[in-house]
Amino acid sequence: MHEETKDITEIILKATALAREETNAEPEPEITKDVKWPIECTLGPGLEGAIVGETNVGYVNGSKGWLVYRGYDIFDLCAYSTFEEVSYLLLHGRMPTSQQLQVFKSKLHHYQHLNKTLRLLMGFQVEDMNAMAALRMGTNLMRQEFTYHDTEAGRPCTDDAISSDEDSIAMETKPTGEEHAVYEMKPQCGSTSSVIKHDLQDASGLEACYHLIAGVSTITAAISRIRSKRMPKEPHPDLSFAGNFLYMLTGNVPTPVEERVMDVALILHADHGMNASTFAAMVVASTLSDIYFSVGSGIAALNGPLHGGANEQVVRTLYDIGNEKKVKKWVKKAVSEKKKISGFGHRVYKAYDPRARILGPLAELLVRDNKDIEPVYRVAAALEKEVLASFGKEKKIFPNVDFYSGIVYSCLNVPPEIFTPIFAVSRVAGWTSRVLEYLQNNRIFRPRAIYTGEFNKKYSPIDERVD
Ligand code: CMC
Repeated sequence: MHEETKDITEIILKATALAREETNAEPEPEITKDVKWPIECTLGPGLEGAIVGETNVGYVNGSKGWLVYRGYDIFDLCAYSTFEEVSYLLLHGRMPTSQQLQVFKSKLHHYQHLNKTLRLLMGFQVEDMNAMAALRMGTNLMRQEFTYHDTEAGRPCTDDAISSDEDSIAMETKPTGEEHAVYEMKPQCGSTSSVIKHDLQDASGLEACYHLIAGVSTITAAISRIRSKRMPKEPHPDLSFAGNFLYMLTGNVPTPVEERVMDVALILHADHGMNASTFAAMVVASTLSDIYFSVGSGIAALNGPLHGGANEQVVRTLYDIGNEKKVKKWVKKAVSEKKKISGFGHRVYKAYDPRARILGPLAELLVRDNKDIEPVYRVAAALEKEVLASFGKEKKIFPNVDFYSGIVYSCLNVPPEIFTPIFAVSRVAGWTSRVLEYLQNNRIFRPRAIYTGEFNKKYSPIDERVD
């Protein structure tokens, strides 16, 4: 154990013990073996309860507070692993050997050099753009650099694709998805040259995933620097992925503690079941678009305040409250106005979010040396206590991953508008892993809506219409 980061490992091990103690009584899930399609499930609006496919990538258990990547517990990964190892695990389904990890790291490092993309990016007024919008554009520019998709030769061939469609109809008929709405693409079709074919294969394969995992970190760091009127920085040859990200962002080589905290934060955000941004990425991939467009849609979905955008909102709320003495009154008012408090609650977790269990104590550790942020942490700790006491424990609403992450990032000198892009820097590992897995047995997503409108309305000319 590294002497300077020993405290961090101890914090994680303590959080692990607490999590196990609190949720041990909840039943363990059974391992699912053969899945027989079609599956019956109860659906709610927003596809709540829907099962979209099978996966080996990751698992979330809301009552036990479990988060699992490829069979490994998130607490163990945070205590002993690194973001590079975890990304490899998610993409490949197994832990790398030291040689495989070395190759993977050097590929990531290679792809963190994005000169052409950054040159294109700087042609836009990035400083005036929302950082997530700039990041989404940046991934599109990376696509330009890596694929032939924008040329005629690079168009996917649809000769062998078959398609049919069901419209939005009243639900008096049973869905017939198994027989209809099938879009299939046979590999190796089309008449593109072998060189282009090779690149196209890469553009929806592993190499493009590596490119994206590396590139999203470089673009995020560059956006942050451009917004504060500084030039982007080249990656540092001797730093880890997390260390390099902080270096490219701030321009300073991080301390071992800063590097390790960022590493843990990246591990914690890498994958999280069938969340909105992952699903968005998969929907786009299922049309046989490409992985750059998929990641762009993941970024777009992640931006919202109900998803990744909550971390920025939390810090704004904490500053608005201003003082821990004002917390009680603030919560009372929020409850009376039926306001959702950012950073609390989760669709899946009905136990304490394991990610917040680690990020909370890490925030506490970092503010010890950061007197400017310490008062904000104290407001957060008081807010957690008050929410849990007034309605949280009863309704099973606990702090989620976004509650303490903003405080952690603030201590690492990350500006608030970059909090949500950092979520993307990590989650791109989950998006790409799940897209790759899904494409092995692709089926275009095509759910239905229940039509509750009218039929047989008579068309009237415009001058006969009344408002
Ligand atoms: N503050 C106060 N009450 C809440 C909150 C909250 N943050 N979240 C849920 N509730 C209450 C809600 O009012 C409802 O109460 P009642 O049954 O009395 O009407 C009950 O809990 C169930 O709420 P819900 O809206 O049905 O829950 P959901 O599963 O649809 O929502 C959520 C999940 C994350 C969208 C929601 O908890 C929320 O809006 N939280 C604040 C935003 C946030 O922190 N988002 C980050 C989520 S975690 C990271 C990520 O996914 O990106």
